Order: sequence, then C-alpha cells, then structure tokens
Amino acid sequence: MNSGVKSEQEEIKNWFNKTYSSRGEYYLRPVKAYYIYLELLKIQKGSHLLDVACGLGRLLEAGQEYGCSLSGIDLSDVAVKKAKLKIPEANILQANAENLPFPNAQFDYVTCLGSLERVIDKNKVLQEMGRVTKQSAKFCFLVRNSESFSWKYIKKLLGLKNKKGHQGAMDLETWTELFNENGLEVEQVLHDQYPLHKAQKFKSFGLRSVDYKSAINTNKSINEANEFLFILRKSN
Ligand SMILES: C[S@@+](CC[C@H](N)C(=O)[O-])C[C@H]1O[C@@H](n2cnc3c(N)ncnc32)[C@H](O)[C@@H]1O
Repeated sequence: MNSGVKSEQEEIKNWFNKTYSSRGEYYLRPVKAYYIYLELLKIQKGSHLLDVACGLGRLLEAGQEYGCSLSGIDLSDVAVKKAKLKIPEANILQANAENLPFPNAQFDYVTCLGSLERVIDKNKVLQEMGRVTKQSAKFCFLVRNSESFSWKYIKKLLGLKNKKGHQGAMDLETWTELFNENGLEVEQVLHDQYPLHKAQKFKSFGLRSVDYKSAINTNKSINEANEFLFILRKSN
C-alpha cells in the first residue's frame, strides 16, 4: 500500500472510529432490519457465514437465530470491540477487507452491507471474498445507487457525496459488471428492503405488524432504488 492510499485508509478508519464512539448504536439500522438478508440467502443450519465490514455486528446478532457459525471483520477497532462484547460467540476480527484473515474456501455465505462503496479497492475485496468461500457459496451486498434521487440531488446539495468515511455510488449496470468481472453471477436484485418495511408500517399508522423477514415488491423501477440489494453466486 503506498503512503497516499495508506493515509486515505487511515482517514476512513478514523472517521468510523469517531462515528461509532460518538453516535454508537444510533448510527446503524436496528437488528430487525437485518433478518431479510439472511432470509434471502436461505441460511442453512451448521453453515459458515462471514460478514465483511460488520460494523457493530448487527447482521451477526440476527444471525444467532440461524444456528450457523458466525465470523465478521471490520476496519474500525472501536466497532470490533463493541461487536465482540455483544456477540462473544462470533469470531470478530479487526482487518481490512482487502486482506481477509481467513484460509481459502472456508465460508458458505458472505454478506457485505452498506460497505463495498466505502472500500478503496473493490476488486481486491471481491477477489478476497472469492478466495475465502466455497464454490457453492452465496453472497449478499447492499450497495448505493448513483442514479437515485437522493444520491444525485440531496447528497450533492448537502455536500455529502464522497464524504463520511469514503462513500461512493454506481449504477445497476456498473455494479453488475464489477461483480461479473470478479467471478460472481447475479441471482436477484431488489430494492433496499428497510425503507419499504418502514413505509408499510407508516401507511398503517403503525398499527400493522411488519414481517421484516419477508421481501417486499414495489412498483418503482429498480433503477430508482436508493440502494440495491444483490444476491449472487459464484460463476462456474
Ligand atoms: C455503513 S457501515 C456498515 C456496517 C455494517 N455492515 C452494518 O450494516 O451494520 C460501513 C462499515 O464499513 C467498514 N469499512 C470501511 N472500509 C473498510 C475496509 N477496507 N475493510 C473493512 N471494513 C471497512 C467501516 O468501518 C464501517 O463499519
């Protein structure tokens, strides 16, 4: 890693350390928002799951209900410390997703939520995910859409583009190409589910209970999604 990249990486880590120390739990979605990823992956009991850029371990917390072995890594040592306290049975390590500290072909599932747009070398991260997974592995990514109203106009207006821990965004075609070039094939692409679950609750004036484990369809085109939820497998 050259010194420019090293200092950029340090800046990202410091931004997250500060955010997790000051805003703590409130920076992330609640645990109930994470079940959908595990449901879409159809997690099997006894399998091995790795959450890359696990933050405070929300996905791993939800994963405890599925009887699988849980691992996570994150760049932020503050996040890792907090996640370890919350989920002591999970193997959570401080690491850069560009160099995963695991042997080859270990995992059945990889999740990476709200994070791939924040890493410096996406290709390296995807190659590493390919290396540590079995041929039958499945992958779930939540990534930002550069064509969304919020990214194009609101974030631009507020000067938040490419700030806050190195954010980024790409359109559906570019994300798909990136995954394909790194040996992954798309099984499913959905709108980010949490805003749809929240809208369902809001429309019922909070009276209807929401099944956070079921996917919701919307009439809006996928190109309008704020974030894309990708389910992928390895190409043969
Ligand atoms: C928006 S948070 C999402 C956290 C978690 N995936 C969740 O949904 O609760 C993004 C996370 O990416 C992590 N991150 C950024 N760059 C990383 C890298 N190169 N390697 C590992 N983690 C990284 C940050 O420390 C942060 O915890």
